[in-house]
Amino acid sequence: MAPKYPYELDVFTVPHSRMKALVQQYCEMLTLTNFSSACEVMQLLKQLGTTFNEFKEHETIENKYIMQKLQHKLQQLSITNNVVCNCHKDYKLSQMLQLLEDGLSKCSKTDQDRLNYGLKLRMALDDFTKDFIPHMQEEEEILQPLLVEHFTYEELKEIQTQVIDHHTHL
Ligand code: FEO
Repeated sequence: MAPKYPYELDVFTVPHSRMKALVQQYCEMLTLTNFSSACEVMQLLKQLGTTFNEFKEHETIENKYIMQKLQHKLQQLSITNNVVCNCHKDYKLSQMLQLLEDGLSKCSKTDQDRLNYGLKLRMALDDFTKDFIPHMQEEEEILQPLLVEHFTYEELKEIQTQVIDHHTHL
């Protein structure tokens, strides 16, 4: 399917491709990890730590270069939009980062501790993924059209450049 918006105006598709690839990666890694092995759990936690810090970075970039500008623009036009206001409010990133931190201290404990932690981690990751994928879809399907509607071509092109430039790993 052809992209809906020109590349230079599309602020979400490229970063979200990366985020979706990371989701796919941790889902696969989770199925392969043996939680009886301290070494494997440690490896998984390190990878998840890197991934979730990248998600956090993605959120920070969106807040700074997209959401604040869009909110400001809508306020100027006296338009209220709850999706923009609440976009990152209800997010489970901080809880996930805390859970990963807790896991590091459990790695060196008993097999049972790691197995229990593994169950908790799987449930939390499932929960996170169930929110994160629709969250990205919402940004693509609701916020991107709002950006196109309310910013000029040049303004949005500049926002897109900033967003892509700050996702340095893309
Ligand atoms: Fe693009 Fe808010 O995740």
